[in-house]
Amino acid sequence: MSSSHRPIVFSAAQPTGQLTLGNYLGALLPWTRLQEEHDCLFCVVDLHALTVRQDPVEFRERVLDLAALYLACGIDPERSVIFVQSHVSAHAELAWLLSTFTMMGELERMTQFKDKAHRHANNINAGLFTYPVLMAADILLYGTHKVPVGEDQKQHLELARDVALRFNGIHGPLLRVPEPLVTGGGAARIKDLQDPTKKMSKSVESDLAKVMILDEPESILKKFKKAVTDSLGVVRDDEANQPGVVNLLNIWRAARGATMEEALAHFAHNQYGRLKVETAEAVIELLEPVRLRFREWRADAGALDAVLERGGILAGERAEGTMRKVMNALGMPLNRRRFVMGLSDQ
Ligand code: TYM
Repeated sequence: MSSSHRPIVFSAAQPTGQLTLGNYLGALLPWTRLQEEHDCLFCVVDLHALTVRQDPVEFRERVLDLAALYLACGIDPERSVIFVQSHVSAHAELAWLLSTFTMMGELERMTQFKDKAHRHANNINAGLFTYPVLMAADILLYGTHKVPVGEDQKQHLELARDVALRFNGIHGPLLRVPEPLVTGGGAARIKDLQDPTKKMSKSVESDLAKVMILDEPESILKKFKKAVTDSLGVVRDDEANQPGVVNLLNIWRAARGATMEEALAHFAHNQYGRLKVETAEAVIELLEPVRLRFREWRADAGALDAVLERGGILAGERAEGTMRKVMNALGMPLNRRRFVMGLSDQ
């Protein structure tokens, strides 16, 4: 795995509940394509997920589920680094250092914080507030060039850039300022099937609102058949008046790799019934092999552990290089025991 000249990509998802079709089309599927020409690291961010209370027994399984899902979706451990965030302690450490370069006002502006604080009103913990600093640390630890994300994470990425620029302004150009890579083809914001003005989110209560990556085909078909549309009766690309129809068109074309023009031509003169069923079929075709491979990876705990152990070592080595530079720049005394590996090129 040569990492020397390909641009570095870092991305991550939280092991909270099962992932949705939105996560798949907006993140995991584009990640698999990026592996061809980039040096990729894909992380299961368990520390982030702890900002919402988790059941420990279930949580451990969910972390492994998500890692298995990365593999099932086609992330190749021979080409990309797959690892669990808490296996590399530098994430939490750099987050602390960067929190001293992040302003309260910046964090107060984060829409996801406002949203989550509203939804978890009885547990507005400090971690929920400083969450974007940890995300900045994730990204900046690896000298990341590009961060593939859906629309909802763009604001967090802007913050990571601002924090890096502020640090560099004081201590010299040490942290690479990352660029967002927002998924194209309408997949950056897959909408809720019952309320197509909102993003499809794993935390929404209603089962009919979200398609999960591991859903059985019958269940996928049922959810699409019940998807909310409108009473206009024409298939058009009119987000303001027909958000449900446009969402189905976006899902169909993301699954089929088609443009909006092709989608409109394909469904011209059709009733919504056909749009719903064909979208369901495209999604089923896409997800069926993922579900089967997921089961295989989950049935082989040894193989999954081996991937994560190796990923943790590879990511950890790279993260230590950044930690050494950052701690040195801040004037922290060199810890010879910790950085013994890199002392010769100091
Ligand atoms: P998370 O776990 O909520 O989502 C993982 C990825 O899926 C994308 N996504 C969507 N894309 C399109 N349509 C949707 N309906 C949809 N829902 C989710 C998200 O944009 C994301 O790319 N904070 C992050 C995890 C994170 C991270 C990072 C990401 C932690 N550190 C560093 C990138 C880089 C999160 O909660 O994603």
